[in-house]
Amino acid sequence: MDDPRYSNFWQQRYERGKPGWDKGEPAPPLLGAFAGRQPDYGGKILVPGCGFGHEAMYLVHLGFDVVAVDFASAPIADLRMRAAGLSLLALQCDIFTLPQEYSGYFDLVVEHTCFCAIPLERRGEYAKTMAGVLGDGGQLLGLFWELGEEDGPPFNTSPQDLHDNFDPFFIFDTIEKPDNSFPGRQDEEWLVRMTRR
Ligand SMILES: C[S@@+](CC[C@H](N)C(=O)[O-])C[C@H]1O[C@@H](n2cnc3c(N)ncnc32)[C@H](O)[C@@H]1O
Repeated sequence: MDDPRYSNFWQQRYERGKPGWDKGEPAPPLLGAFAGRQPDYGGKILVPGCGFGHEAMYLVHLGFDVVAVDFASAPIADLRMRAAGLSLLALQCDIFTLPQEYSGYFDLVVEHTCFCAIPLERRGEYAKTMAGVLGDGGQLLGLFWELGEEDGPPFNTSPQDLHDNFDPFFIFDTIEKPDNSFPGRQDEEWLVRMTRR
C-alpha cells in the first residue's frame, strides 16, 4: 500500500536500496547538542522512526540506554545486528502503539526526520505520544525540516507547525537554525529543545 501511514510504504523504500534520506551518519546538529559536555539529560532515550539508527548508535556509545523504534523491518534487522551487546533495543513497532511499559519511561526523545514522515493529520497525536512516553521534566530534542514543499513525505515543518502541534504538551526551551546541517538541508532545519508540560 503506497501510504506513509503504513510500514509497507517505508519497507519498500528500504528494499529498493539505500534510501535518499539516509546519510549514513548522525545529523551534525544533533551531535553538537551532545558534544563537548556531559549531557544534562537523564539516561533513557527514545529514538522514534530511527531508520538505520545512526543517532541511536551514537547515543549508546555516549553511555545512554537507548530504545530505537521503527515499524519497517529492514532497518531494524540491520540495526539489531550492529547493536548486538550494546545497551540499545531496536524495536520494530509503530510509534503510535508503543508498549504500555514505556508510558512516562524516557528522559529524552531524540527526533530526526520522523516527524516529517508522519501524515499531517497525525501530527498532534505524534506530539501527544512523545509527551506520553516522557517522565517528569522529560525533554525532546528534535531536528525538524522546513523543506518548503507542499507534498510529502517528507512533510514541511515550520516553527508555526511545531507550535501548533507541540504547544499543548511541551514548553519550548530553544529553537534555532543550525549552521552545520547536511548539504542539501542547510537553512532548512530547526534544532528544537522542548520540555514536557
Ligand atoms: C524519513 S525516514 C528517517 C529515518 C531516520 N530517522 C533517518 O534519519 O535516517 C522515516 C522513518 O520513520 C519510520 N516511521 C514512519 N512512521 C512510523 C511510525 N508510525 N512508527 C514507526 N516508525 C515510523 C519509517 O519507517 C522510516 O524509517
